[in-house]
Amino acid sequence: MNTILVGLQWGDEGKGKVIDVLSKDVAFVVRYQGGNNAGHTVVVDGESFVFHLLPSGILHQGKVCVIANGVVVDPVVLLDEMSMIQKKGVKIEGRLKISEQAHVIFPYHRILDGLRETKRSNKIGTTGRGIGPCYADKASRCGIRMGDLLNPRLLKDKLQDNIKEKNDIFKKVYRHPGFSFKDLYASYLAYGRSLKNFICDTSVLLNDAIAVKKPILFEGAQGTFLDIDFGTYPFVTSSNTISAGACSGTGVAPTKIDRVIGVVKAYTTRVGEGPFVTEFSKSMNEDIRAKGREFGATTGRPRRCGWFDAVMVRHAVILNGADSLAMMKLDVLDQLDTIRVCVAYTYKGKTVQRFPSDLEFVKNAKPVYKDFRGWKINISKIRSYKDLPRATKDYIAAIEDLCGAPASIVSVGSGRDETLFR
Ligand code: GDP
Ligand code: IMO
Ligand code: MG
Repeated sequence: MNTILVGLQWGDEGKGKVIDVLSKDVAFVVRYQGGNNAGHTVVVDGESFVFHLLPSGILHQGKVCVIANGVVVDPVVLLDEMSMIQKKGVKIEGRLKISEQAHVIFPYHRILDGLRETKRSNKIGTTGRGIGPCYADKASRCGIRMGDLLNPRLLKDKLQDNIKEKNDIFKKVYRHPGFSFKDLYASYLAYGRSLKNFICDTSVLLNDAIAVKKPILFEGAQGTFLDIDFGTYPFVTSSNTISAGACSGTGVAPTKIDRVIGVVKAYTTRVGEGPFVTEFSKSMNEDIRAKGREFGATTGRPRRCGWFDAVMVRHAVILNGADSLAMMKLDVLDQLDTIRVCVAYTYKGKTVQRFPSDLEFVKNAKPVYKDFRGWKINISKIRSYKDLPRATKDYIAAIEDLCGAPASIVSVGSGRDETLFR
């Protein structure tokens, strides 16, 4: 069984937790897009791990973890994360595989990410990790790939060309001193040497595994409304975050995928700029942010919070072909008297139930809410779906109905055991 797991909102839905929980039943866990803009949290016995590049299945010894071709890799961050996890006693030799075709993030990408933001009047609020500029180089065919780090002559040619052009731009457009070829060349050759044993053709590895029916779990990063095509453009990330991205990002064909699980929070959050129809007022925002600990796992920025938006999620279920939902963080809503769900948008006298592709509409849309009774008890100790309060079940059922997919997993806390399966 090959499963794609994707976020159906703006990221941080709790993908890391679900990946960790589902990892025990698969042979491979694969990251296929994004880079260290992602922050996936896994909590085991009270200890919290945040993974930016390593797949969230890494804590399960014996499972092979793959960073596939669609990911952009900052080797400094990757080596840091590898050493962090090794210090915890987790073995990675032989079970971490990095695609030779994955593109490499260089310091000029990271710095340019920040400099471009300063020049924009409509800031995106990126994570500043160089993700956009690295994908831009990939598309303009001047990118450098992980495999190139193992070939000194090739790396020299490509890096020389890049630095020549970038330094011109940095100096003339941004009044930045630019970068030394010598320093970057030496350090990236060294990263290549450190990562040599992990780099391979991961598309062959994965397709060979599929041929002998080894189950694969594809770990999406970010969320559907950060997708470069279908998200709230330009307030998006630079990759295809929807389930289709798992195929181009790994070289595994769509015919080999058996199911798609969409992860949603029981409410909505967003980090960075861009429209957010159901965003809470200031005080409610602060309240839920505190209860849900809604601070970015990558940048520490406070996350913007709002009511569950069924207009968005219904659209996301379709874009991703989600067969089922994993509904996370229901416990965060425990104390509320009334819980609202957005069922339509209105703007200029027009009411829509479909998520509009017109950003002006989304920016100005007013939410139409349906209200639900809160359950007003602590549900985090509940271990079986049937024991949930009636009001919680009603809320879940309404979301399933509005969004067109059943919730197969319900989460009431960050720990592994705080997960209810149906
Ligand atoms: P991801 O990027 O989708 O992996 O999500 P993040 O790790 O950025 O953010 C999700 C946060 O919610 C993490 O701190 C998780 O430990 C936490 N979390 C996950 N599921 C639950 C849940 O059901 N209840 C609560 N209270 N926290 C949860
Ligand atoms: P996970 O995988 C939430 C957001 C940034 C910004 C926009 C573009 O943990 O869910 P980028 O650095 O990618 O160019 O920033 O995308 N963003 C995320 N928001 N969760 C993430 O990842 C995100 N990765 C990027 O805040 O608005
Ligand atoms: Mg996150």
